[in-house]
Amino acid sequence: MSANGNTHIFENIDALYAALEEQWQLVAHAAIADHGAFHVALAGGSTPRNFYKKLAQQSAIDESCWHKTHIYFGDERCVSQDHPDSNYRMAKETLLSVAPLLPGHVHAMFSADLSVEENVAQYDTLLHDTLPLDAKGCPVFDLVLLGMGEDGHTASLFPETDILHESEKPVAAQFVQKLNAWRMSLTFPAINAASHVAVLVAGGAKAKVLADIFSADSNATDNNTVVRYPVQQVDPTGQLDWYLDTAAAQLLNVQD
Ligand code: 6PG
Repeated sequence: MSANGNTHIFENIDALYAALEEQWQLVAHAAIADHGAFHVALAGGSTPRNFYKKLAQQSAIDESCWHKTHIYFGDERCVSQDHPDSNYRMAKETLLSVAPLLPGHVHAMFSADLSVEENVAQYDTLLHDTLPLDAKGCPVFDLVLLGMGEDGHTASLFPETDILHESEKPVAAQFVQKLNAWRMSLTFPAINAASHVAVLVAGGAKAKVLADIFSADSNATDNNTVVRYPVQQVDPTGQLDWYLDTAAAQLLNVQD
């Protein structure tokens, strides 16, 4: 079995969440010790929803850690923050309205008061002003949480879209034809500059794509993996961890 990074397979979603919470705490404490803050980008969609709930309500994360935590978004639907599709709304319902985060430490990606272009420019400036920068001047997240769709998209980096080829900006917007909707997303430069990236994949519906990805990587010659899915371009200089449940991992050849 391959794919970049470390692969963790769990019997059920609660075990997956528990392991991810452990990593969240470890990364948060290390980041705070290193540079006085923990900068984390949340994934959208349904998989992380109950993780955020548990993190806010049941986790052992102490208040001092929350006070140094800055929350960002890996991607956002370009809708109002109270729209049912909004990732910000989902995060607010589960985590942001419960955890003792400090005012000014939650950084929504999209506001309906601004144009898409203005939102992108504003988030780009925010990331450059609040995050440490790497040698290339790219903002460095301490942790980026990602999901994966059944088409192998991650964040709002969908197959056959121009944003996949963004090589400099940390955030961009993309009209996604198949959704008939505008999205904003961190780009691969921002994701791959992160110190830690955790990809959460659960459910049998994603087993086929995962098997394609893991077999493509294990069959790669001279590091030229056949890239068929956007999530395969997640290759951070930092640590990459795949958090899978057994349903999503059912077609993987775990002996490899
Ligand atoms: C979004 C997400 C997206 C999501 C995948 C998986 O805004 O929808 O960021 O990339 O992570 O589509 O979604 P599920 O967790 O709902 O399967």
